[in-house]
Amino acid sequence: MNEQQRASGKITTEAAPADKKSATGEKDYSKYFQRVYIAPSLKDAKRRGKEAVRYLKDFSIPDHLRGMGDGRKFYIRTYGCQMNEHDTEVMAGIFMELGYQPTEEPEDADVILLNTCAIRENAENRVFGELGHLKSLKREKPDLLLGVCGCMAQEESVVNKILEKHQHVDMIFGTHNIHRLPHILYEAYMSKEMVVEVWSKEGDIIENLPKARKGNIKAWVNIMYGCDKFCTYCIVPYTRGKERSRRPEDIIREVRELAAQGYKEITLLGQNVNAYGKDFTDIQYRFGDLMDDLRKIDIPRIRFTTSHPRDFDDHLIEVLAKRGNLVEHIHLPVQSGSNQILKIMARKYTREQYLELVRKIRAAIPDVSLTTDIIVGFPNETDEQFEETLSLYREVEFDSAYTFIYSPREGTPAARMKDNVPMEVKKERLERLNKLVSEISAKKMKEYEGKVVEVLVEGESKTNPDVLSGYTRKNKLVHFKGPKSAIGQLVKVKITEAKTWTLSGEMVEENVPVEVK
Ligand code: SAH
Ligand code: SF4
Ligand code: F3S
Repeated sequence: MNEQQRASGKITTEAAPADKKSATGEKDYSKYFQRVYIAPSLKDAKRRGKEAVRYLKDFSIPDHLRGMGDGRKFYIRTYGCQMNEHDTEVMAGIFMELGYQPTEEPEDADVILLNTCAIRENAENRVFGELGHLKSLKREKPDLLLGVCGCMAQEESVVNKILEKHQHVDMIFGTHNIHRLPHILYEAYMSKEMVVEVWSKEGDIIENLPKARKGNIKAWVNIMYGCDKFCTYCIVPYTRGKERSRRPEDIIREVRELAAQGYKEITLLGQNVNAYGKDFTDIQYRFGDLMDDLRKIDIPRIRFTTSHPRDFDDHLIEVLAKRGNLVEHIHLPVQSGSNQILKIMARKYTREQYLELVRKIRAAIPDVSLTTDIIVGFPNETDEQFEETLSLYREVEFDSAYTFIYSPREGTPAARMKDNVPMEVKKERLERLNKLVSEISAKKMKEYEGKVVEVLVEGESKTNPDVLSGYTRKNKLVHFKGPKSAIGQLVKVKITEAKTWTLSGEMVEENVPVEVK
């Protein structure tokens, strides 16, 4: 923790350095232990400093914490986006280095972590509901440690609410200090009080954190952290800090290692991957350059999420058009089709600019699959403005979309706007939009019937163990009968039936050419 981070939080007491020796020369940490209480501040989180990002490789488990988890089990529930899922993999990696074993059952766990999401109110309500349920488990097992981490932990109001109403929580920590997990656990074991350690400001980039990845077919790779876009409805720039890019050589090394380990697909992660490299002061190296370098690595598929339309440059389009392991799918959130709403959202592009970008992408990659995110019922959205969203959706013909009713987030500019749109109207708009999304998806899926696609087989179907499932390059879910030996492989499947969201088919010989991606 540096001075600036300290200044940004409220500190009542400070932990003693973990390796301090007692007066007798014995290592007695409990003697020196004091409770750390650092609360987040949204105001501090909003500030964007000029200080350079430090890239550290100094993560290690201190000697006295080694073996802390021997004979103990951990359980992490993840509520958020891919970034959160990947954070869970990092925390699982740290737990395992401490000697803990994973469990799928919260009842069997000695430590339970809720890795939370703050993006909409219902995501938060689910977490508070779960905290309520876990109260009885905690009563039955007083030694159980219960922690709240992730994006909600970065919100002052959430920390205050937990402090007031959920006293059975043992620890709260945020998104910037995951690497402190060993110390936070230690403090939670030693302390009778709730350990709160949330840094309002982002920290350094720590390169050598362990990761216990879920699965051995697909892997997440962070390329950057944070977001500087400050869309007026969004909490992410406050919960994830300023944009910081990982160094290209670290990303390339990680992808190479994953390829060598046999992974077949990589998803590059960032809140706005197109801003990658903007923060480098010593090199001119942007997302297009990174993709051009990753393209040369021997791994079948590379995806990325999420791209903001604003920074999507021509070089990137040129590189994506080279295809190879760069898949023909782009998730390009538009949020609204109305220029007035886009303006109040501070998206910093117009409907016309978005459509022009789509035109350019399609000119370079004619069969590209485009998906999007849309918010309906933004404060004071009129019927006409909503109709413009529908007309944009029809014009682009997205393959599919994630659609949301606007949810006010405390501390964001939009949350302070008066809103004259009743919830009933917002729900109707969402229904109408979803109907259009399904219609167009069904129509696009129909085009696959009779065609051969390439599927990366992930495993047995969730509903029928005789059926295997996997995704095409364009991220269409395909079910088909096939041998278990196909799991983890790229196989060819002829589509026999298209539903609205999924395809079914039969496996064909390896030498049959792929007809659609
Ligand atoms: N960085 C990504 C978005 C991450 S959040 C991007 O800009 O593309 C994922 C989606 O959640 C957003 O695209 C938006 O559609 C939705 N979202 C974000 N804040 C929201 C809010 N306050 N209410 C409703 N939906 C929201
Ligand atoms: Fe949120 Fe906008 Fe940043 Fe996406 S780009 S995370 S919507 S502020
Ligand atoms: Fe949610 Fe945080 Fe991701 S708010 S969407 S978990 S960055």
